Amino acid sequence: MEAVGFIPSSQHLVQTNKTVTWASPSNIALVKYWGKYDPQIPANPSISFTLNHCNTKTSVTLVDQSMLSDKSTGAFSFEFSFEGAPKPDFHPKIASFFARVFDYLPFLKTYHLVINSENTFPHSSGIASSASAMAALSLCLLELSDEFPPNDQNVFSEAFYAKASFLARLGSGSAARSISGPLMQWGKTPGFKASQDLVAVPFNKVLAPIFKNFQDTILLVDKGEKVVSSTVGHGLMKDHPFAKARFQQAHDQLALLTEALVSGDMETFISVVESEALTLHAMMLTSSPYFILMKPGTLSIIEKIWNFRKNTALPVCFTLDAGANVHLLYPEMHKVQVLQFIENELVAYCQNGQYICDQVGSGSISHTVQP
Ligand code: DP6
Repeated sequence: MEAVGFIPSSQHLVQTNKTVTWASPSNIALVKYWGKYDPQIPANPSISFTLNHCNTKTSVTLVDQSMLSDKSTGAFSFEFSFEGAPKPDFHPKIASFFARVFDYLPFLKTYHLVINSENTFPHSSGIASSASAMAALSLCLLELSDEFPPNDQNVFSEAFYAKASFLARLGSGSAARSISGPLMQWGKTPGFKASQDLVAVPFNKVLAPIFKNFQDTILLVDKGEKVVSSTVGHGLMKDHPFAKARFQQAHDQLALLTEALVSGDMETFISVVESEALTLHAMMLTSSPYFILMKPGTLSIIEKIWNFRKNTALPVCFTLDAGANVHLLYPEMHKVQVLQFIENELVAYCQNGQYICDQVGSGSISHTVQP
């Protein structure tokens, strides 16, 4: 489908003063999206596990401009609160998101939106919240548009979720993958006919049982602000000397990973996932300007994981985002042993001993209170 296909053919009936609420999860990429073209088109395909507990919950109320004070110009406006307090720092990112989605949600132009958002994970944990935040906001806006009303059982259609992913992508690329779950693929790749650059689609093969309730324990090595924003990081791939080889590698690794996800071949799964994490960081190490996003604790944890895997033969591996925190991935059946290992050997490298236990989840959930 082309982008114009997401422009509604007619204006839908919109209910003023209606409040809708969605909770969207964060996700962790196994094959990484790193590099993009305008407008938010990925330079390579990616695939991620949708998480379960790390969520953003957002409510949006639609207010008719005529209900506002005389100062209202009648043009689109919004107010945004995060965990109960106004957050002007978030305004520019949200405003540029709105600028990109107006054509696809034309009803917005004459309304004022009251947006309230909260995260279930600690705010300054170094965990990117743009994916879950943009996914939840997109779902709210699309529900308000009434373009794809739910059925009598309050179930939304595939078309609703596809457009929500399209909108979320315009806010933050990885947000396209936070709409559904448990495994979402985004970006055209030859091995998967349904794959697309404009929306993320659910992995359409049967996952091997070992991945059911797969665990992701996020070791918070550094809870500070990101050294480099993802937007800047993606930009560095434009003139990157290794870009072409990297983009091809992502296609190849995705093909290998797809087979491993179906067969349950953990050796291949681990080697692709760890290679992807290290390649992402290698791109940052070799870009101009260059950046080191890991901390000494990140490397110590990786070494400990490798030793633990060698000594126990348990299929435990790591992945990284564009930061210092480590995501420890492992099958649910090994939870007790791995948590013991974390307590004994890894907690020492976590800031204030903090880590978050999450697992693969099934995607965004509506919390709209129906009248
Ligand atoms: C390293 O989705 O945060 O997490 O599209 O600029 O908002 P923008 O970037 P973003 O990039 C995420 C990069 C990553 C890898 C991934 O999630 O695939």
